[in-house]
Amino acid sequence: MKDLLFAVCLLAGLALTNSVQASEWRAVCLKLCKCEVRPWFSPSSMYNEAPTVDCNDLGLLSLPERLPSDTQVLLSQANSIAKIDSPLDYLVNLTEVDLSRNNISSLSDVYLGHLPQLLSLHLEENWLSRLHDNCLANFPNLQELYVNHNLLSLISAEAFRGLNKLLRLHLNSNQLRAIRTEWFQDLFQLEILMIGENPIARIQDMNFKPLINLHSLVLTRMNLTEIPDSALFGLDKLESVSFYDNMFPKVPQAALRQVQNLKFLDLNKNPIERIQRGDFVDMIHLKELELTKIEATNNPRLSYIHPNAFSKLPRLEVGI
Ligand SMILES: *[C@@H]1O[C@H](CO)[C@@H](O)[C@H](O)[C@H]1NC(C)=O
Ligand SMILES: *[C@@H]1O[C@H](CO)[C@@H](O)[C@H](O)[C@H]1NC(C)=O
Ligand SMILES: *[C@@H]1O[C@H](CO)[C@@H](O)[C@H](O)[C@H]1NC(C)=O
Repeated sequence: MKDLLFAVCLLAGLALTNSVQASEWRAVCLKLCKCEVRPWFSPSSMYNEAPTVDCNDLGLLSLPERLPSDTQVLLSQANSIAKIDSPLDYLVNLTEVDLSRNNISSLSDVYLGHLPQLLSLHLEENWLSRLHDNCLANFPNLQELYVNHNLLSLISAEAFRGLNKLLRLHLNSNQLRAIRTEWFQDLFQLEILMIGENPIARIQDMNFKPLINLHSLVLTRMNLTEIPDSALFGLDKLESVSFYDNMFPKVPQAALRQVQNLKFLDLNKNPIERIQRGDFVDMIHLKELELTKIEATNNPRLSYIHPNAFSKLPRLEVGI
């Protein structure tokens, strides 16, 4: 009899724990956030139907304590979160966390736990000023990292250590004064690097050398007047480069000669005056060349184009 009573109590206790948990989840989902299955594309463009918790734009100061255990995508954009101290590692299928437009000023205030399943992390439009060595070591399989539109002035040499699955890195619109080749040491899978809108004084020779799989490089709005001849050395897979809105007075001919697979080249909004004969020589894969726009009109300074400048370029669209 005693045993039976004990068993009944135990079962009742279990049921209570379960229903408390379930009702907590329901409370999170119904009162606070929206929980629904939504289409989700992985960083490599695979389609998924992902259990999504949407807590965007709710004025939150912290994440909900407990989220549904099947959560795959957690959206918490445009809140006021500065600190996270309850880890999310109980969410075994968590593949994306979006904390963009919050109030985070240091990654050491954001403790998400060890998340080997995480593929995509959004931290854009926060107040981060530095990324220290190994600061992302808890996310070893990360494929996309967005830290654009922060205040980053310092990224330590080993900040991206171990991120050898990273495909996409957005560092644009920060306060970086130099690009360090050491950052890229483990990023040999990286396909897209956006690093424009930083006050970078000078691109160095071999600056991007470890990025042997890079497809697209965006160096817009950096006030660059030149790049050294070997700046793009090693970028054998590069297909697209944008120098939009810089201060180049001429086409960086020698540097471009090192990226022979280029298909798309954007030199719009540069004060280029003359196109020389050898400017695009041997760019046999080039499909689209943007050359001239300054403000809304065509480049009034461009006064001379060598008659043979485009002669070896098949099927080319030139935006003039
Ligand atoms: C995680 O995803 C797998 C594969 O889709 C699924 O079988 C499993 O039930 C999910 N785990 C949880 C806790 O939802
Ligand atoms: C965001 O952080 C700044 C300082 O880092 C603080 O002054 C401000 O009150 C915070 N805003 C909110 C909504 O918490
Ligand atoms: C480029 O120069 C302009 C004018 O001096 C300045 O306002 C802007 O902040 C500079 N941009 C960068 C990224 O350094």
